[in-house]
Amino acid sequence: MKIMDLKEKFARYMGPIPVDEPIIVRGSGATVEDVRGRRYLDLSGGPGVVNFGHCHPRITAAIREQAGQLTQSPGRYITPAAVELAEILAECTPGVLRRTFFCNSGAEAVESALKLAKKHAFVHGRGGGLIAFEHAFHGRTTHALAVTGQIKYKWGLDTYLTVPGILHVPYPYALRSPAGAKGCAEYTLDRVREALRLRAQGTVAAIICEPIQAVGGVIIPPDGFLAGLRRLCDEHGLLLIFDEIFVGLGRTGAMFACQHWGVTPDILILGKAIGGGLPLTAFITTDEIAACFAERKEHFSTFSANNPISCAAGVAGLRVIIEERLPERAAVVGARMLAALREAADGVPGVAEVRGKGLLIGIEFADADDALTPRADLAARVLAKTLERGLLVMVCGAFNSVVRLSPPLTISDEEVETAAGILREILQSALH
Ligand SMILES: Cc1ncc(COP(=O)(O)O)c(C=O)c1O
Repeated sequence: MKIMDLKEKFARYMGPIPVDEPIIVRGSGATVEDVRGRRYLDLSGGPGVVNFGHCHPRITAAIREQAGQLTQSPGRYITPAAVELAEILAECTPGVLRRTFFCNSGAEAVESALKLAKKHAFVHGRGGGLIAFEHAFHGRTTHALAVTGQIKYKWGLDTYLTVPGILHVPYPYALRSPAGAKGCAEYTLDRVREALRLRAQGTVAAIICEPIQAVGGVIIPPDGFLAGLRRLCDEHGLLLIFDEIFVGLGRTGAMFACQHWGVTPDILILGKAIGGGLPLTAFITTDEIAACFAERKEHFSTFSANNPISCAAGVAGLRVIIEERLPERAAVVGARMLAALREAADGVPGVAEVRGKGLLIGIEFADADDALTPRADLAARVLAKTLERGLLVMVCGAFNSVVRLSPPLTISDEEVETAAGILREILQSALH
């Protein structure tokens, strides 16, 4: 099909597409190629999906092999690949997180984890209220949207803006917190304490939190924050749910982002890379909490655990992450890339901060005024310039003012150097 035909048909049958957007048709490692044969460095990583790189040969082979054997398990019969994947997850998740429930999308995993937390609260005679965070992103289905803390995803959907029983508190966003970098963790924990005090005892079931916010703008909480949340949950009998859909499975330089701070949740939600690049997500919990979903009718979906291809790809993908030591690689390569970008951005007007953990890096654009007025225009300009130069990045954050990099963790040293060099030129000469 001709390129213009493809774009016209997309516009007619699926939705508008900017004409300068490439149509990607193949990928290998950190490189992808468009329909015209132009190559790009994929610094978005899927977004955040292909931690093992595009079309890793071991994953492709596993998909091919499974596709030749069985593509869907009939009824609710057990899929060997799903059991194997759950076993690997149990071995690498922290604490006593051991029971995996598979889902199809990140939003569905969030919804299902919240449902489990509410059921657990019910069994223990508590209410089903939730505490969530400003700037959070948990997906676009109804309950996931309700706990999401960015208004831009809820425009025209005001029923999800303030949902009874869901309370949003500020995330410790050091750059923008009224308490500053040093005080923002305690400021947030105070807001959580206040929320628990103001609400009748026993009405809150759980706190849902991203250990690092990715879609919210690569916001990394200070030390002590997650441990403080864990303490509050233990004191008040609440479940702590970590949404690691974006930041899990090696992305931030540890297998799970919560391990940077040695804090274990009661429910861990995973997505993106867990299916080896195919649709699959999961939430993982303890035996005790899992018992609240003891009947199989409480959690099931036609695909997910019944889809042996996604599960086989997931097994191969996890093996690659573990055996190729990709979390360690993300830590080393990410630190190098962060240092290079910080140096490149030093003194550049409009760059408020360059921050990151492992291979999740954000460049935030804002004016240097008291309000740190967000500069979505500068982020958009970087997006356009990077595309011209063959880099794929993404813009994120509540104000669309953060350029986010989340490349495959297999990105080569040479590719990192190329990417950093292009970004340096764009920041230093093409921005103003
Ligand atoms: C932290 C987090 N939670 C949930 C989701 C939603 O996942 P999905 O797009 O697979 O529904 C995302 C997607 O980016 C995410 O980053």
